[in-house]
Amino acid sequence: MGDCNTNNILKLLFSYMPKIAEERKMDGLLILMADLGRSLVGADRCSLWLVDEQKSELWTKVAHGVAELRIPSNLGFVGYTLNSGESLCIKDAYEDSRFDSRSDLKTNYHTKSVLTVPLKNSEGRIIGVFQAINKKEPPYYFSSQDIEYLSLTAVYSEKTIESALLTKELEETQAEILYMLGEVSEHRSKETADHVMRVAACCYKMACYFGLSEYEANQIRLAAPLHDLGKVGIPDAILQKTGKFTPEEYEVMKTHTVLGHHLLRNSSRKLLQLAAEMAIGHHEHWNGSGYPSGLSGEKIPLSSRICAVADVFDALMSTRCYKEAWSEDMVKDFFIKQRNSQFQKELVDILLSHWDEFIEIYK
Ligand SMILES: [Fe+2]
Ligand SMILES: [Fe+2]
Repeated sequence: MGDCNTNNILKLLFSYMPKIAEERKMDGLLILMADLGRSLVGADRCSLWLVDEQKSELWTKVAHGVAELRIPSNLGFVGYTLNSGESLCIKDAYEDSRFDSRSDLKTNYHTKSVLTVPLKNSEGRIIGVFQAINKKEPPYYFSSQDIEYLSLTAVYSEKTIESALLTKELEETQAEILYMLGEVSEHRSKETADHVMRVAACCYKMACYFGLSEYEANQIRLAAPLHDLGKVGIPDAILQKTGKFTPEEYEVMKTHTVLGHHLLRNSSRKLLQLAAEMAIGHHEHWNGSGYPSGLSGEKIPLSSRICAVADVFDALMSTRCYKEAWSEDMVKDFFIKQRNSQFQKELVDILLSHWDEFIEIYK
């Protein structure tokens, strides 16, 4: 780090360590670690690559809101360090046969000096690779001291990374199970493929624009696939009917809200309670004309008000066993008419003012 003395190193570590220890999300953690690594060794770029064993790939996240990057796990310097466990300190990448110059071409960047350090878990197994690129100060390549700094960072963060990996795995499993459960109800009612997935994505977007936190919006996204879970209890003859419902059939159909609520309500998990709330409330109308309870206005939970808009939006845009898909203009007109009657006006306004983004989800 050239002119960077021990004091500065300590300062850097002390300013980052609490943030790193607190960060539970893998994405945020990767970005923090990369920032710390870059400052410590004075690199132009730094990234922490993690192994995805199932796909034989390495992946990383360089910034919030940007998709993750992926490379084959045997590629380039990172791949070399992953497979050999050796750190690398390269003066000029282009003079080394292990260098994969395609990423330079793609990003219009010139890699010169490179530093890679393996990241090990508590059992000593390599779970990722730290990579720093282009030392910013003379002599423009990394020193053995830099290797030490980067290794130190890797050792310090190993526990946090491991627990974040575990959390990530658990969260992905949870999301997948909820989604699969939601698909069961979708399948039985022969709804358009991926209805629950699109409703979930619309709910998330709407919740974000409404001003909910990332966490709250994500909880709604995770719970949304279960909004029609109660349809598992509705007879096929009604669920798959192509013609209009008789008044009696309609009454039975309406019970999917209460059925779904009953299935979910006894869980003490916050997420499933939210799903229960959305199951019973997604057919309530802002003006009180909906079912099953005829709640109105803010007596309807916000999650249900959001889900109502997303659900109807997707239903109208899709072909169903009882209807053709509507044109975009027809759907828009419908929401304008129902603004402040079936739906909360603020939510309709979000839908209309970000129309193209919602259509994008649909497509
Ligand atoms: Fe429903
Ligand atoms: Fe639905």
